Amino acid sequence: MIAREAGSGQPAVGTQGIARDLAVALDPALLAHDVGLDLDAWQQDALRSREQQLILLCSRQSGKSTVSSLIALHEALYRAPALVLLLAPALRQAQELYRKLKDGLNALDRPVPIIEESALRMELANGSRIMCLPGKEATIRGFSGVALLIVDEASRVSDELYQAVRPMLAVSGGRILLLSTPWGKRGFFFEEWTSGEGWERVRVTAEQCRRIPRDWLQRERRSLPSRVFDSEYMCVFGETEDSVFGWGEVMTAVDGGVAPLFAPSQIVHPEGTRDDIAPLAVRPAKTGTGGWR
Ligand SMILES: Nc1ncnc2c1ncn2[C@@H]1O[C@H](COP(=O)(O)OP(=O)(O)O)[C@@H](O)[C@H]1O
Ligand SMILES: [Mg+2]
Repeated sequence: MIAREAGSGQPAVGTQGIARDLAVALDPALLAHDVGLDLDAWQQDALRSREQQLILLCSRQSGKSTVSSLIALHEALYRAPALVLLLAPALRQAQELYRKLKDGLNALDRPVPIIEESALRMELANGSRIMCLPGKEATIRGFSGVALLIVDEASRVSDELYQAVRPMLAVSGGRILLLSTPWGKRGFFFEEWTSGEGWERVRVTAEQCRRIPRDWLQRERRSLPSRVFDSEYMCVFGETEDSVFGWGEVMTAVDGGVAPLFAPSQIVHPEGTRDDIAPLAVRPAKTGTGGWR
């Protein structure tokens, strides 16, 4: 990131500035210092990670959106020209992340100038673009050349939306970052956390967050149903309330050795890509109480 005076095209920094830029480019965690934040160790590690796929399964208020906004900012500043997409269940939530990123940019001494800006997107003088995506599959356009896709409150994002955005990373080889509290044993966020391939996984409970006071947490534990407390603060994927069988029961009934009764089918995505859906093979019914019939 070499800041330029808006309009002049001239670099606004001397050797010291260039040396600092080089240091922050090499160690993204230094960016936090430049925006005035003292990151937790796990936040620093997340900011430094170069894994293609990263999941932050973290307590409410632990600082996952904050660090994700810095990951996005670093990408836009130091890997320009980069296209960074911000997605959440609702546009308003994606805009929250966007605002954090903008606050970070404004807090820098010599920010790269913004050449175009709206409530949903900005373009920087270095060619990087940051865009908020609407939380509805039908209204999402296909973007190509995505460098980084961030999905905030990912457990609440629908599988259809996730399936619609993932192909945008296919050609560019861009990175994806999912961050969320759990929301039961369902959906892609749970699947990716428990059995997805190629993910770096980070789990941070409220007890591990130095900014959440112990006595406040104890009060929350007493006042909330344990299922809610465990999910919101302790990163526990609970049973979904509306399911007849628990996740464990269903999975023990699935047997890879039994041939499916019907052939695999495919989802055809709007942009033309296809995903196979293999039907689950379920063990033959057991007799007696509690068996499958
Ligand atoms: N390393 C940090 N130092 C100081 N404040 C932080 C840090 N990380 C997060 N915060 C603050 O903690 C609060 C919750 O952070 P946020 O990122 O919104 O949490 P989450 O997305 O996990 O709910 C915000 O007020 C944020 O500014
Ligand atoms: Mg958040």
